[in-house]
Amino acid sequence: MSTFDWIIQLVYVAAASCFVLGLHLMNTPATARRGNQLSTGGMVAAVVATFAIIIHASTISVTGWIIMFTGALLGSAAGLYTARTVQMTAIPQLVSVFNAVGGGAAALVAIHDYINLAGSAAGVAEATTVTTLLDVMIGAVTFSGSIIAAGKLQGLINAAPVTFPGSRAVNMAAALTAIGGAIYLIITPSVPVLMIVILAALAFGVTMVMPIGGADMPVVISLLNAFTGTAVAMAGFVIGNWALIIAGALVGASGGILTKLMADAMNRSLRNIMIGGFGTGDSGAVAVAGPGGDVRSIAADDAAIQLAYAQKVIIVPGYGLAAAQAQHQVAELASLLEERGIEVSYAIHPVAGRMPGHMNVLLAEANVPYPLLKEMDEINPEFPRADVALVIGANDVTNPAARRPGTAISGMPILDVDHAKSIIVIKRSMASGYAGIDNELYVDPKTSMFFADAKSALTELTAAVKTLVA
Ligand code: TAP
Repeated sequence: MSTFDWIIQLVYVAAASCFVLGLHLMNTPATARRGNQLSTGGMVAAVVATFAIIIHASTISVTGWIIMFTGALLGSAAGLYTARTVQMTAIPQLVSVFNAVGGGAAALVAIHDYINLAGSAAGVAEATTVTTLLDVMIGAVTFSGSIIAAGKLQGLINAAPVTFPGSRAVNMAAALTAIGGAIYLIITPSVPVLMIVILAALAFGVTMVMPIGGADMPVVISLLNAFTGTAVAMAGFVIGNWALIIAGALVGASGGILTKLMADAMNRSLRNIMIGGFGTGDSGAVAVAGPGGDVRSIAADDAAIQLAYAQKVIIVPGYGLAAAQAQHQVAELASLLEERGIEVSYAIHPVAGRMPGHMNVLLAEANVPYPLLKEMDEINPEFPRADVALVIGANDVTNPAARRPGTAISGMPILDVDHAKSIIVIKRSMASGYAGIDNELYVDPKTSMFFADAKSALTELTAAVKTLVA
């Protein structure tokens, strides 16, 4: 091995170490930012080393360089602009688009490699590796599946589960065609058959994600994230770049773990997810409205009295808190209550909001002390002791309808808000949440509805509590 090769390998080792350490630092919010910076540093080093290899080999024409740099510049500019301007609430769509781009790029690497090699007799055996075919299939599924997921989350495609008679058969046919074509390619390399495999994998991605909707979207997003990592790792094998293999494997593994956690949080089995049984719940049930009943509304002054004279308050944040960007207002109200000696904690549901860890990130932005944030299993036994559960823009994650069969969220573990002594819900109307079903909590005799935007409601509440205290 030449000195140049040694240096490149060392840089790759350093980059891979940065990825692993960076991931480790992301274990806690206190070190997560450093973890992100370290991983970014590793990625910059890996990209520079790869450019160095290309320059050293000097196999690229001037036109090739111009195309490569133009593509890199346009891609980086688009990525930078989108990442800086995206609304917090649109992050899941952005992650989906990034998944699509990652999976698509990984598939293109393998397709290019295959077409290049399959043309010559000597290259045929080299081209038909299992990793090349896996890269093409997983990359293509990720690409089309992620585009559909992003469209659903953005509201460009029907967000509800979309099925038609025989849709599962079409899904199975697409999967079997892709796998059958790949097996054929191992025996007889053929570019037209490769194209059939690509089309079948793209169709599988579409038919896999279309029947998913409502509360199951988080699971599919993390699953597609795991697919992206796996496709990228396969692309690493195809071009013999082991920094890419390690980076892809880390994304694939962490995406896989996240998928398992999200599936557990939704009480869905991974097996059913893989065979397309989600989106309608494992039971295949459809959404039904909950029982009707009287809704009691409350104004800021009365809500403030309940809060100010409570001993224990549990705050339940949801998507509406993020949409209203009211994290600073809730933190201010919570500290005011704590100053009065009231015990305050935040109940965090694993799929509250629109992305994993959404509430944690949001509340960290407002410097809410991390120990006050309690995971669902930890906080649920505390609800019966809470004088007030203050629900802010959370809906599906509090809906008792999840406890009985026959609804779109049946089986999803929820925060036991209805076990609190009294409940105040801040939201703008009686509109449903992401899963599109009525919330039985709102007609509970212990519940009072404070109809307002979360930011203005919390500002009013804080002012009212201050008046009481003064
Ligand atoms: P949702 O069930 O979506 O309910 C949010 C509620 O916030 C709505 O009912 C809405 O009612 C209210 N709201 C919206 N804007 C508001 C504002 N400015 N001020 C006050 N309230 C406002 O939220 P959730 O309880 O957090 O549940 C999350 C849902 O999203 C779950 O079904 C989950 O499966 C799904 N999901 C989660 C993720 C991840 S990974 N977290 C990803 C995709 C989907 P009004 O319109 O009446 O105000």
